[in-house]
Amino acid sequence: MTRQPISLKPHTPRIFSGVQPTGNLHLGNYLGAIKRFAELQTSHECIYCVVDMHAITQGHDPLELRRATHEVTAAYIAAGVDVKKHIVFNQSQVSGHAELAWIFNCVARMGWANRMTQFKEKAGKDRENASVGLFAYPMLMAADILLYRATAVPVGEDQKQHLELTRDIAQKFNFDFAERIKALGLNSGDYFPLTEPLIAGPAPRVMSLRDGTKKMSKSDASDYSRINLTDDADAIAQKVRKAKTDPEPLPSEAEGLKGRPEAENLVTLFAALSGREAASILTEFGGGQFSTFKQALVDLAVASLAPIGDEMRRLVADPAMIDAVLFDGADRARAIAEPVMREVREIMGFVQR
Ligand code: TYM
Repeated sequence: MTRQPISLKPHTPRIFSGVQPTGNLHLGNYLGAIKRFAELQTSHECIYCVVDMHAITQGHDPLELRRATHEVTAAYIAAGVDVKKHIVFNQSQVSGHAELAWIFNCVARMGWANRMTQFKEKAGKDRENASVGLFAYPMLMAADILLYRATAVPVGEDQKQHLELTRDIAQKFNFDFAERIKALGLNSGDYFPLTEPLIAGPAPRVMSLRDGTKKMSKSDASDYSRINLTDDADAIAQKVRKAKTDPEPLPSEAEGLKGRPEAENLVTLFAALSGREAASILTEFGGGQFSTFKQALVDLAVASLAPIGDEMRRLVADPAMIDAVLFDGADRARAIAEPVMREVREIMGFVQR
């Protein structure tokens, strides 16, 4: 039976990114990813996913997963993502993610997955007891991106290695099935694009407020290590005031921040929140007391984050509205994903109707 090639125009520029609904969203998630999601939507077609299937790789509470899924959706909207123009949905509603992930499990090599530093960090010492899902996590992430043949992915720096793996998987798939792709008239030799990581912006790696050598993270035991997007003004003020610094005053030039990770992190946060260059911030605050600078950072952080936190609280109070966004987004995501999955099944040689 001859089949019509389904899509002959590969690689429409398209942004895809995702955030896990695990624990509280923090300033690192906001500056490294979510704030940039909103910025990119003026120039690109965007798909933003709440990756709930990634969130079950380390054990979870089902009710908490629902709450966190709503919260991440609310954060996207509160940060300015337009859910009518772009697509916002939760991963588990579109079955192609799991289906393509399985195929990628069979494309990726054990050696590649074994090198993933995030798996090593998350599995810790007791690797025997980690879920198989945690090990297969990067293949699901590659499936998220390539199911939409996304060409660019905005993320924080910690996701760089996963995006390199995504490119390796795309390349191996294109190579292994090149003949079949050609025979089916899916003409390009590059069925899947080599997705570009967009690791940019002033704060691709926000560090812990307690230790400037560790990244700010949801899983840090100390809540003082991070500013959560739902923290109120008092909590933000306390956390910034208690943020670790060193005994020296702030330098007047960026050079002087070398070897001072905590000071550097606070200046980076100020720059990212204000849209100013580090140099101009140091000209203003260099030589002065940390307390003066910290107070200005508190004012800035409260002014930038409090409206987002307030809006998130308002949105999550209406779960039916959030669900409606996710249902509508999933319908539109499926409309893109299903033709791709049909082609992929055909490439694989799976019999389908
Ligand atoms: P997740 O949920 O851990 O983090 C969401 C986003 O926030 C960024 N981020 C940071 N950026 C700067 N400084 C920090 N301290 C910081 N901490 C987190 C992350 O880099 C990320 O962009 N595997 C992904 C989720 C995912 C995904 C995808 C992303 C699943 N599928 C497909 C892009 C495309 C993750 O765990 O992110």
